[in-house]
Amino acid sequence: MRHIQRRRTLFTFYFTGSREAAFVYAISSAGVVYALTRACSQGELKTCNCDPHKRGRSSDDRGEFDWGGCSDNINYGIKFAKAFIDAKERTVRDARAVMNLHNNRCGRTAVKRFMKLECKCHGVSGSCTLRTCWMAMSDFRKTGDYLRRKYNGAIEVTMNQDGTGFAEANKAFRKATKNDLVYFENSPDYCLQDKAAGSLGTAGRVCNKTSRGTDGCEVMCCGRGYDTTRVKQIIKCECKFKWCCNVECKDCEKAVDIHTCKAPKRAEWLDQT
Ligand SMILES: *[C@@H]1O[C@H](CO)[C@@H](O)[C@H](O)[C@H]1NC(C)=O
Repeated sequence: MRHIQRRRTLFTFYFTGSREAAFVYAISSAGVVYALTRACSQGELKTCNCDPHKRGRSSDDRGEFDWGGCSDNINYGIKFAKAFIDAKERTVRDARAVMNLHNNRCGRTAVKRFMKLECKCHGVSGSCTLRTCWMAMSDFRKTGDYLRRKYNGAIEVTMNQDGTGFAEANKAFRKATKNDLVYFENSPDYCLQDKAAGSLGTAGRVCNKTSRGTDGCEVMCCGRGYDTTRVKQIIKCECKFKWCCNVECKDCEKAVDIHTCKAPKRAEWLDQT
């Protein structure tokens, strides 16, 4: 818990108010919910247990079943994460706090969205006439992918007049719902180094020459071009199977090209600082 608190301070210092901050707050909150809920189910916490409401009989589209096993207690995870993570934002009431609280909530509920019913069949030779089911969290990647999509579609907002919520910054755009990530400051220019804004710049970053995406040299180097260096890599080669049971390989040298983004020209760089 303490290291999360420390990391949060870092986030507050860097890229406050931006789309990236929105994502970081949401995924951190989601991570806390996930870890707490998992810990509950595994009996690692004294204060919680499997979901006590998942008892008795219920039904889904395949028919009736008995609750059994351990249902992940997501509501406990959400409640505890909320008390713990939102605490700091409650001390001040500014645009940033309202934004962070909103995105924290988005992250927490994202985990719940991917809860799934898992079942086990009983009955004569697995005929499934009797089913025992429980609610389980999905792999965290599902939550991560979902929040990544929400990051792409995040909505810019401004504070409303009484400071209790926000209004869209641009009336032409879609209104933010409670499931949208929101931000109120444009991102810094990540092409250039700006330590105060939390941008490391892309000079010296390794890029992929053939990719057209954000990892590609064209996009990542922001049109500044890239340097190519040839390096030797040692790889395992001529592997042979030795009876029994070993695989013996030789070390072979292979030359590979590494591309790294060029730094901005000095004049350009001075303009930016
Ligand atoms: C570079 O990008 C191409 C095209 O997107 C991809 O097929 C390849 O695996 C990437 N190489 C590395 C080292 O990531």
